[in-house]
Amino acid sequence: MKESIKVFAPATVANVACGFDILGFAVENPGDEVILKLKPGSGIKITKITGDEGRLSRDAEKNTVGVSISNFLKHIDSKQGIEISLNKKMPLGSGLGSSAASAVAGVFAVNQLLGMPMSQEDLLPFAMEGERIACGSAHADNVAPSLLGGFVLIRSYDPLDIIRIPTPKNLYCTIIHPQIEVQTRDAREILKKQILLKDAVIQWGNVAGLIAGLMKSDYELIGRSMHDVIVEPIRAILIPGFEDVKRNAKEAGALGCGISGSGPSIFALSKDEKTAKKAGEKMKEIFADLKIGSDLYVSKINNSGPQILD
Ligand code: HSE
Repeated sequence: MKESIKVFAPATVANVACGFDILGFAVENPGDEVILKLKPGSGIKITKITGDEGRLSRDAEKNTVGVSISNFLKHIDSKQGIEISLNKKMPLGSGLGSSAASAVAGVFAVNQLLGMPMSQEDLLPFAMEGERIACGSAHADNVAPSLLGGFVLIRSYDPLDIIRIPTPKNLYCTIIHPQIEVQTRDAREILKKQILLKDAVIQWGNVAGLIAGLMKSDYELIGRSMHDVIVEPIRAILIPGFEDVKRNAKEAGALGCGISGSGPSIFALSKDEKTAKKAGEKMKEIFADLKIGSDLYVSKINNSGPQILD
């Protein structure tokens, strides 16, 4: 049996415009790394966190990775001691599923170390508990794609029903992360608790259209379905230049563009790498004009999920 393991789990784009809390996909980069070691005795200890500027809790009961692993160990009735070292390789509060990637890397790693007592899919509820600690809500649209790879639909939360959606081979994602922070907890609190039936009709038409477009490799249908009339109009005010970034992405040829998760990152989908890169340059220009630093990522959809690095 291995004594230690190093795992990478990918960042994710949740919501995908119209699918608030029910759609998400994984990207190839960025992502987080977790190193776990078996330790004598019981208990979970966080030995090191890098890349978080000292902002994440070192207390395993308050840390996303610690909580996910602790729930997993309780479930399999294990008293195994674990040491955690977390390497944050993506920004916090970015809308890229930072806490989800850490939680997924943690539960995937501990399952591997202990000889895979559970299937990869069954690890999802433990990673969702990590999400609850991070932002007060156990939504699955970041953890599910990070854990399973690809494009994932959460058809139902109770009971949990997760469906992987095939995507066209050449679908590329552009993500621009403006260097400002939006806390998911805050971005959820400002949302309306009730919506109009006429908006719901538009929204579920788009969700169905997006899924159909992905499954049929119909790029035009994907593009015209990436339209959110419920959440984006409220959250857009948290992101300076959002409408201009979106316009530039589309003018550069992207199929569609929206807020990544709870923001402030903005994502666009394109039907080839060249267009995805061009859209990225144009999206970046807006933040440069606003004197806001930004990080740009262009990647294919990540269909493999977590990866063992060592
Ligand atoms: N669906 C969640 C939200 C994702 O939009 O609040 C958070 O990353």
